[in-house]
Amino acid sequence: MSNPAPTIAQAFDDARTFNKFDGRAISDAQLQQVYDTMKWAPTSMNCQPARFVFLRSAEAKARLKSALSPNNLAKTLAAPVVVIVAMDTRFYEHLPTQFPAYDAKPMFEANAALAEATAFRNSSLQGAYFIIAARLHGLDCGPMSGFDAGKLNAEFFADGRLKANFLINLGHGDASGNHPRGPRLPFAETTQLL
Ligand SMILES: Cc1cc2nc3c(=O)[nH]c(=O)nc-3n(C[C@H](O)[C@H](O)[C@H](O)COP(=O)(O)O)c2cc1C
Repeated sequence: MSNPAPTIAQAFDDARTFNKFDGRAISDAQLQQVYDTMKWAPTSMNCQPARFVFLRSAEAKARLKSALSPNNLAKTLAAPVVVIVAMDTRFYEHLPTQFPAYDAKPMFEANAALAEATAFRNSSLQGAYFIIAARLHGLDCGPMSGFDAGKLNAEFFADGRLKANFLINLGHGDASGNHPRGPRLPFAETTQLL
């Protein structure tokens, strides 16, 4: 039987941030499926700076130990997969093939601040797209920014080209570990209709 069509509620209204996961493993094919969905979401000049490092083995996850905040440690080591959402600081090297409409590579080569802001903005977006794609494919996420980026980068990205943006624990959620859901700011408080 085919899976039911994913719903808006599955991606947003009913989706929660998970601290615990059940025992089901995540296959490499599932990780590729999520990537192949999220890759179509937009980035500026199609720059696609995000890089995803999937930590699947206990040995790979243990390499995060010294970088994680104490409150994130146990749940991260127990997650089926931990995703390092990183950014390629030299993303612009791919622009000639990825954005042939305009020769933007020299602009970024000449302006480190613009390259950094562009990499951070767009890899953050791509991390969010990843969360939504994972939910649409029936997976659950626990995003985290509570880690020491310097330590993580030294452990995983020693040559300095990639830099960590944030982490996502990934699996099939076990709601028994959820915090009570916080409210959300209402439309009237966060928007302006001009
Ligand atoms: C970028 C980002 C960083 C986060 N960092 C942490 C973290 O370090 N530790 C943690 O326990 N939760 C972290 N969270 C989880 C948020 O607190 C949670 O997503 C938010 O309260 C909404 O919860 P809900 O999806 O269950 O409604 C983070 C979430 C995001 C999106």
